[in-house]
Amino acid sequence: MIFKTNIYLVATLSALALLPTAIYANESGCVSNYDSSVDYFPDKVESKYASGFDITYKGNAKYIRNNLSGETYVLYQCGTPAPADVTPTPASSLQVGNWTKLVAIPGTKVALDSAPASVAIELLGAQNSVAATYKYFAVTSPCMQKQLDGLPRIQQNFGTPSNRRRRSNSNNGNSRLVRRVSYDTSSLGLQWTFTTYGMNDPSSIAVNPEDAGDMLGKAEWIKFISAFYNKEAEANTIFAGIESRYNTLKASSASGTDKKTIGLARYNKVANGTILGWSIDQVQPWLAQGLADAGLSAYNGDTTSFRSASDFYNAISGWDILVDTSGEPLPRGGATIPMWSNLVSGYGFTSSGGRDFANSLPVVANSAIYRSDLISSYQNATDYNEHLQIQVDVLLEDFVKIASASSGAKDTTWYRNLPQHVPVDWVSASNCK
Ligand SMILES: *[C@@H]1O[C@H](CO)[C@@H](O)[C@H](O)[C@H]1NC(C)=O
Ligand SMILES: *[C@@H]1O[C@H](CO)[C@@H](O)[C@H](O)[C@H]1NC(C)=O
Ligand SMILES: *[C@@H]1O[C@H](CO)[C@@H](O)[C@H](O)[C@H]1NC(C)=O
Ligand SMILES: *[C@@H]1O[C@H](CO)[C@@H](O)[C@H](O)[C@H]1NC(C)=O
Ligand SMILES: *[C@@H]1O[C@H](CO)[C@@H](O)[C@H](O)[C@H]1NC(C)=O
Repeated sequence: MIFKTNIYLVATLSALALLPTAIYANESGCVSNYDSSVDYFPDKVESKYASGFDITYKGNAKYIRNNLSGETYVLYQCGTPAPADVTPTPASSLQVGNWTKLVAIPGTKVALDSAPASVAIELLGAQNSVAATYKYFAVTSPCMQKQLDGLPRIQQNFGTPSNRRRRSNSNNGNSRLVRRVSYDTSSLGLQWTFTTYGMNDPSSIAVNPEDAGDMLGKAEWIKFISAFYNKEAEANTIFAGIESRYNTLKASSASGTDKKTIGLARYNKVANGTILGWSIDQVQPWLAQGLADAGLSAYNGDTTSFRSASDFYNAISGWDILVDTSGEPLPRGGATIPMWSNLVSGYGFTSSGGRDFANSLPVVANSAIYRSDLISSYQNATDYNEHLQIQVDVLLEDFVKIASASSGAKDTTWYRNLPQHVPVDWVSASNCK
């Protein structure tokens, strides 16, 4: 499936016969005999879509800017000198955001606290580099569950200042910071932690496909991960496949003027079982684009909350399809995945609550209510946070099925049809084949 042959390497090896002193990129380990005139990274990736990062190469170093976390990562080949023009932000710095982090690659011993990084690492065949995970990290991928089983679980250390910035989806740097926190990587000799947020520590790397500006930009985060492993050639091959399948599907999907309307909504339930109200969620730009590419029209308003069920029903009365984003709180804390019966009571889709007009809602009449949790793990992690962040071609395929179904699609990969009682596919390490 994945071509591991490095075509450039084949070409370079023949050139090597002519130039015996030449050093070529050493993908697997540290380089000896550093030569400042060598391009150590002949295979390069480039961000072509609105991924939120960009990368440039120079000799033995790669300079990555993550616009979403507001951080700069400078990667240099192990065994070569760290670039002289880079001053990493010192570990003791009190600076909030905009850190510059310097790491030696390739990754051989890393910690994981990012579901999208997990899937990219798996697709690139670099799973043996994962040596620890954050204490509360959970994945769905059965083989990654197996890989993580028994690995050390690391803690976070909290320091000062406890500056907090609001989490937002805007693309300005510094928008996704949490308070000063660092992963406990030193005792295990870990190189870095792949994580979600920009963090004020010298060895956490934020991976943010969920905030990319468009669908193919999400998938480009496999290129970002590949740079940490010198696996650019593999990433380019995998990405080219995703891009080509995506564009083929997009070209053949419905482009009629009579588009179905789709929106995201949830009921807001607290642990004691009380429903406090209902909300319509804002659709992120990448999702709006993916839905449009499938021939759907996404609700384009802001997040809106309702205290009255009839106001909520009025607001969604023009929708053909509803994607539910509710959580079902458990009495002793935590939350689980709602089933159809939870939605029936959460939204009041019954006559017993005096809201019998609910059945005239098109989303109910058409059995067109979905959740993105069809594949979930027993720790209630959903595969939506993993594979769908990278494999956007398959995500578009789901959108196309949802768009074309007349009475609720049941043959989707990741979207679960609730009125039709499509069961959750609970996966564990034992499903690793
Ligand atoms: C490549 O890495 C290996 C393992 O660290 C090392 O033994 C070898 O000398 C390196 N080769 C070059 C050309 O630097
Ligand atoms: C990152 O942000 C800078 C400044 O806003 C912008 O010039 C650049 O195009 C952005 N790059 C990406 C990959 O989003
Ligand atoms: C971030 O740091 C770079 C240098 O590392 C500096 O040029 C830039 O102005 C800083 N940006 C912000 C918003 O502080
Ligand atoms: C349940 O919790 C909510 C808010 O947390 C509170 O307003 C309400 O009174 C509680 N209801 C019961 C029955 O305890
Ligand atoms: C996960 O979901 C299942 C089924 O909905 C539930 O029984 C279980 O308690 C949840 N587990 C956790 C750890 O929340």
